[in-house]
Amino acid sequence: MSDLHDLCKFPTRPIDGSYVQQLRHYLKNGIPATYTVEEAYKVLNNIEESELESDNIEPATTTTPLHLICQHVPKDLTNDELSIVQEMISTLFEYGAGWCFTDINNNTPGCILIERGFHDSPLYQLILDAGVRAELLLRKVSEYDMEFIDEEEVALQHDEEVPQPESIEESVKDIVENPVKEIDDAPDAPSQNQQSYLNTKLEYVDNALITKDRKDGVMMSWETNLMQLGCDSLFKGAIIEGSETDSEINVLNIGFGMGIIDTMIQHQSPTKHYICEAHPDVLKKLKDDGWYEKPNVVILEGRWQDQLDALMSQGVFFNGIYYDTFSEHYSDMLELFDYIVGLLKPYGVFSFFNGLGADRQIIYEVYKKLVEIDLENYGLKVTYTNVPVPKETLQENDKSVWDEVKRSYWSCPVYYHPEAKFIDI
Ligand SMILES: C[S@@+](CC[C@H](N)C(=O)[O-])C[C@H]1O[C@@H](n2cnc3c(N)ncnc32)[C@H](O)[C@@H]1O
Repeated sequence: MSDLHDLCKFPTRPIDGSYVQQLRHYLKNGIPATYTVEEAYKVLNNIEESELESDNIEPATTTTPLHLICQHVPKDLTNDELSIVQEMISTLFEYGAGWCFTDINNNTPGCILIERGFHDSPLYQLILDAGVRAELLLRKVSEYDMEFIDEEEVALQHDEEVPQPESIEESVKDIVENPVKEIDDAPDAPSQNQQSYLNTKLEYVDNALITKDRKDGVMMSWETNLMQLGCDSLFKGAIIEGSETDSEINVLNIGFGMGIIDTMIQHQSPTKHYICEAHPDVLKKLKDDGWYEKPNVVILEGRWQDQLDALMSQGVFFNGIYYDTFSEHYSDMLELFDYIVGLLKPYGVFSFFNGLGADRQIIYEVYKKLVEIDLENYGLKVTYTNVPVPKETLQENDKSVWDEVKRSYWSCPVYYHPEAKFIDI
């Protein structure tokens, strides 16, 4: 533990301006904002990295100053103290603190605040804002394919203990770009990689569609209520100017899965009901269950990435578009938005299964904001309805929907149901 770490545990009250002064002093003098308690331990005890390895000593912790602040910030802060703690957090971000680094308990600073009941506090908001900023910045960085400073060059200029820009970049990019990622998920795992997913055998079991070998949940019936919300949103796009219903109602659903939302859509008898589905086992299910024979159904066989261009050139427009696929990432959704603006009628509604980052609440909320920003760039305004999710989706319960499934993709108490419409409508 270093003086910086001690300071972040708030040893004295009241928490006043001297805390910010001290913090700035340490950071200005070269202590990284990401300096961990474990690194400090090694430095104080003269332990070389190689010794740790040979003695097989596990790092005691990966706790950064921001983790400590979140862990130790008193619950009975006065308003003045709150402003000081806010300033400390902002200062740490100014000096490069990571909003989504995880500690030994696999908690980010935001997770710790939620656990301690600070979800609605301005401190949590600061971390959320930092997450949104970091993601937007990373996207710009990768758009322009920016070069990072050569690691060796950096090592000559700085103490080797200082985390290199590239390694920070990599870990932040990793956690943000793969929000539904478990520790044992290799990049080529079916849940992460479309091609390997499309080559994986699927199995319909009671209440779920899963991958045969790994038992990853592709779709599960606990989402039925959420699908109903999605279906209801799509048909709101059939209403023109308040009360008049469109004479032709077209709906597009991307990702058939268990056919839950498609069955609901059929009950509303749209003029045309397009279903885009890529997986051969799911397409077989569509055939076996007679979907090809339904008079108002058009099946688009293949990935939406390969199917939607043709639709654009056919001049088909939709009252409602729903998107719920598997093993895709937010970068795929960003591509999809180009099609959404081209295919949606002016009063149409776009909705999707909002599972972005939903295996960690802070990341789920960062994505909630990002979607808002990104859709607004396309002239679409998204509104969210908060929906409590079944208790059985939370793994800490005795009986959980994940009992028979290897990979869970949900661990948040509230679902944010999205509904997007063009801004002027
Ligand atoms: C979560 S399930 C959809 C569940 C569906 N909403 C329901 O109500 O049952 C995801 C589906 O998307 C399909 N899929 C995955 N990637 C796709 C892509 N790029 N294009 C089209 N379908 C895709 C999967 O094969 C799977 O059937």
